[in-house]
Amino acid sequence: MVKHFLSLAALSEKELRQILDLAAALKAEQKEKGENRPLLKGKVLGMIFQKPSLRTRVSFDVAMLQLGGHALYLSPNEIQLGKRESVADVARVISRYVDVVMARVFGHEDLLELARYATVPVINGLSDYNHPCQGIADFLTMMENKGELRGKKLAFVGDGNNVATTLLYGATKLGMHFAIATPRGYELHPAVLEMGYHFAAHSGTTVTVTHDPVEAVRDADVIYTDTWTSMGQEAEAEKRRALFPPYQVNGRLLAHAKDDVIVMHCLPAHRGEEITDEVADGPHSRLFDQAENRLHGQKAVLAWLLDAV
Ligand code: CP
Ligand code: NVA
Repeated sequence: MVKHFLSLAALSEKELRQILDLAAALKAEQKEKGENRPLLKGKVLGMIFQKPSLRTRVSFDVAMLQLGGHALYLSPNEIQLGKRESVADVARVISRYVDVVMARVFGHEDLLELARYATVPVINGLSDYNHPCQGIADFLTMMENKGELRGKKLAFVGDGNNVATTLLYGATKLGMHFAIATPRGYELHPAVLEMGYHFAAHSGTTVTVTHDPVEAVRDADVIYTDTWTSMGQEAEAEKRRALFPPYQVNGRLLAHAKDDVIVMHCLPAHRGEEITDEVADGPHSRLFDQAENRLHGQKAVLAWLLDAV
């Protein structure tokens, strides 16, 4: 059976912890020895992008290089997933060339289709549904700062989007309390929440859904925010810009969290919108450690999928 990496919801808590521990170990190895063992020697990653990227593109490319393999960047104009040829045929063909595929898509159904027809592992490099590679970097960053995450509180403030979905899944699997504050009409999808409640019941933790950002961040160990307008939603940007300002992560909001709260953002940030400069560049911010951890996280996902450890 080919393993895929499409959603944190599909992993057991044990598998999620294995990937996080592997990411930490590969990071330590890189820092201590200046290099990693060539775990993916001769392996090739195909990277299909329907949307722009800095972190995902560069961190996967560098991860493959540092593990002894190679990455191919395939821009939106090249493959034209589903337009130049069907997603199923792309999956069948690319599987004959590469050892693993990463795709950043608009509709999650394209990833499901790729995974269905590919004979090599498929990685979700972000879809409209979720962003699991981001989740690995994020929970690694939280573990580095907070130690064992069970019983800690993660508060997400802003749009109930793909990143919020991933954080709900990861937090409830790992036994963290999860709170989310969104404007009305921008909540997490009911089916996503239902899954979060299910995982929370299993791990004995809580999920709080509110429209009040102060309630969400009360006593939080981690505050997380993301853009108000995700890629593909640009036509709604103005409407969202009018609705979301009460959900800005600023110094006033931080005052309601724990004194040692850390602030996270998957980036790219829209400074002055969902986060102020004061917070993004302040002592609580972990934004750039988190961005670095994309590199270590990708290595772990790749090595785990290819059974290289
Ligand atoms: N956080 C993230 O996925 O960044 P990119 O869109 O730059 O890849
Ligand atoms: N929610 C954002 C995340 C970008 C990394 C988006 O989908 O555009």
